[in-house]
Amino acid sequence: MRICILSGTPKKEGLCQSVINAAKQGAVEAGAEVDEIRLCDYKLIRCQVCGDGWGVCRSEHYCKYGSDGFEDIRKRIRESDEIIIASPVYWGETSEALKSFLDRLRRCEFGQSGALSNKQVLLIAVPGGSGNGMLTCLEQLDRFCRHTGAVIFDYIGVNRWNSDYKRAAAKAAAFAMATGRKNGDTV
Ligand SMILES: Cc1cc2nc3c(=O)[nH]c(=O)nc-3n(C[C@H](O)[C@H](O)[C@H](O)COP(=O)(O)O)c2cc1C
Repeated sequence: MRICILSGTPKKEGLCQSVINAAKQGAVEAGAEVDEIRLCDYKLIRCQVCGDGWGVCRSEHYCKYGSDGFEDIRKRIRESDEIIIASPVYWGETSEALKSFLDRLRRCEFGQSGALSNKQVLLIAVPGGSGNGMLTCLEQLDRFCRHTGAVIFDYIGVNRWNSDYKRAAAKAAAFAMATGRKNGDTV
């Protein structure tokens, strides 16, 4: 089992990274190979909105500008069996780095024939100060999964006052997903 973590946090330490570390630990304990992709470490461009709104992303399923690192990352995602997407909540949304990456990925992997179709995805949103925006961030990620046909394994929202038990939930969710539990299984 190969799991990639698509991370939107710019920080190497902090609340969001601590949740990612917990999820990673759960997946590793289940025997998975984990590939953590820190999107903020790349200088990725945003979608250039080719043509009249659609470019080769629609017809040939790749990004014309993907040599900036986008296509390499997409290959790592395609080679993964399951995915964890984790982001700090900024303005009630994912971080900008994650949002602009997912904008491009969604175009290339749109629909039931895309590489994310039927892959299980664990969604993690981590708000900070107010704790506001957890649901809107998760809803944004939910929409990405629906556009790409990915199967949402679970939603985990972590804030300052629930991080002790939600970090444990992130670890347990990643463990369960990595050991083969499927969305819809009764436990
Ligand atoms: C630009 C920006 C916008 C933010 N917007 C929100 C927000 O809408 N709601 C919230 O609870 N926290 C918000 N935060 C705080 C982050 O969510 C917080 O830094 C992070 O989720 C958790 O802590 P970490 O940065 O240590 O990982 C924002 C932070 C930044 C930098």
